[in-house]
Amino acid sequence: MMLKKYISREEIEKNIKRLAAEIENDYRDKEIIFICLLKGAFMFTADLIRHINNPVKVDFIRASSYGNGMVTCGQVIITKDLEVDITGKDIIIIEDIVDSGFTLKYIKDMLLKRNPKSLKICTLLDKKARRQVDIDVDYVGCEIEDFFIVGYGIDYAENYRNLSDIYIVKED
Ligand code: IMP
Ligand code: MG
Repeated sequence: MMLKKYISREEIEKNIKRLAAEIENDYRDKEIIFICLLKGAFMFTADLIRHINNPVKVDFIRASSYGNGMVTCGQVIITKDLEVDITGKDIIIIEDIVDSGFTLKYIKDMLLKRNPKSLKICTLLDKKARRQVDIDVDYVGCEIEDFFIVGYGIDYAENYRNLSDIYIVKED
């Protein structure tokens, strides 16, 4: 297993500041409920919301769609649901990577049934070429190629979440 640096912490920070400015501009002074998809988006969420001066609430959902490897199994299971009521609220789902789009589509449909006032999606990374379902992502940090990456909250078999930069994993 070899790691090759792909996106530096400075680049991540730059993109986060840009996204935060876009979000502040779109929501003016309205309250935003950020919904962090665990576990991969925890670091991104923590950094993003510190750049947003709106009134903010944060909650978490844990959905599993990957096993302990690099391939998806298609099935989405919710292992931890929200605790806040999102009815009539402006919510933004925060994801680490949108790949096939199956996970987000499932969660988006599930949350829309709870009648939020609005629902948008913000992802740090977008593997657009791998999309299998039609889903709009409103805020994108970086579009990336089809590499398996780790770091900055994102794991391979639960490892490497602590790294400050993002790396490509190469099997050797
Ligand atoms: P999707 O349902 O296929 O869009 O899968 C999205 C989820 O798969 C992300 O939230 C990640 O947890 C995981 N994932 C996708 N690509 C990668 C990767 O390159 N490294 C680590 N996890 C990934
Ligand atoms: Mg994830």
